[in-house]
Amino acid sequence: MNKWIVVTGASSGIGRCTARTIIERGSKVVLTSRTVSKLKEAVKEYSEEKYVIIPWDLSDLDSLSDYAKRVKDTDGPISGLVHCAGIQKTMPLSLMKKQTIFDVFNLNTFSAMFLVSLFSKNGYFAESASFVLISSLAAHEGAMGKSIYAASKGAIEGFIPATASELALKGIRLNAVIPGIVKTEMVDDFFKNLSDEQKKAFEDSYPLGLGDPLDVANLIEYLLSDKAKWITGECYKIDGGHMIRKA
Ligand SMILES: NC(=O)c1ccc[n+]([C@@H]2O[C@H](COP(=O)([O-])OP(=O)(O)OC[C@H]3O[C@@H](n4cnc5c(N)ncnc54)[C@H](OP(=O)(O)O)[C@@H]3O)[C@@H](O)[C@H]2O)c1
Repeated sequence: MNKWIVVTGASSGIGRCTARTIIERGSKVVLTSRTVSKLKEAVKEYSEEKYVIIPWDLSDLDSLSDYAKRVKDTDGPISGLVHCAGIQKTMPLSLMKKQTIFDVFNLNTFSAMFLVSLFSKNGYFAESASFVLISSLAAHEGAMGKSIYAASKGAIEGFIPATASELALKGIRLNAVIPGIVKTEMVDDFFKNLSDEQKKAFEDSYPLGLGDPLDVANLIEYLLSDKAKWITGECYKIDGGHMIRKA
């Protein structure tokens, strides 16, 4: 690809794998999350000209314009943005607190909107840039305890079409991916509170098995690439056949 791409949530799971995949296919990556040691570990076998580590707490919305400027000042306008940083909370509605809603929406939803807005300012994006956001199948299923998380991801899908229309005027493409269950630290955390029976029920509901981060990273890398130059405003489910089982 030979581009300059920002990947958030690059210290773990889907973001980590996406950052590594992009580097391996020839582009330079900005890796962002809060934990420098994990970001360094994610790229330890690559030479330093292939990446830049910019640690940032992306839930601090007031700081995001400084973040975008820092990225631009480091290596110029970006060719791509992949916003994988996200948090997941599982709790019944009766325990819902205002702060939990803000915490989840600040990172999953509002930071995504601000990053798209900031990186689509003139001077911040390169020709034919492509931005990819991450929703979740949780926004399409009635899973118990997922109200806030699902709403935070549903808002991403609502954001895509209208925003993609505006960005098309600048030649920027904007799409989202909607993964089912992918084996990452986030899912390990969720699974550790389940019985073996419950875990098996989840696994059995995926005809092609649970996802690997690389399954999603490959789709993201395609959407970033010029092979997807006629694709914008779309949200793609990637779930090993989980939803067709339910149809
Ligand atoms: N795994 C799944 O089954 C699945 C399914 C559907 C959608 N998704 C979505 O895919 C994305 C990636 O999920 P994942 O499973 O790869 O999660 P993960 O392994 O838990 O990784 C989450 C990433 O977000 C970063 N992060 C968390 N809070 C942050 C903050 N305040 N500022 C900056 N970075 C922050 C974490 O790094 P630090 O802790 O270092 O900051 C980490 O790199 C998320 O948006 C998730 O909702 C996941």
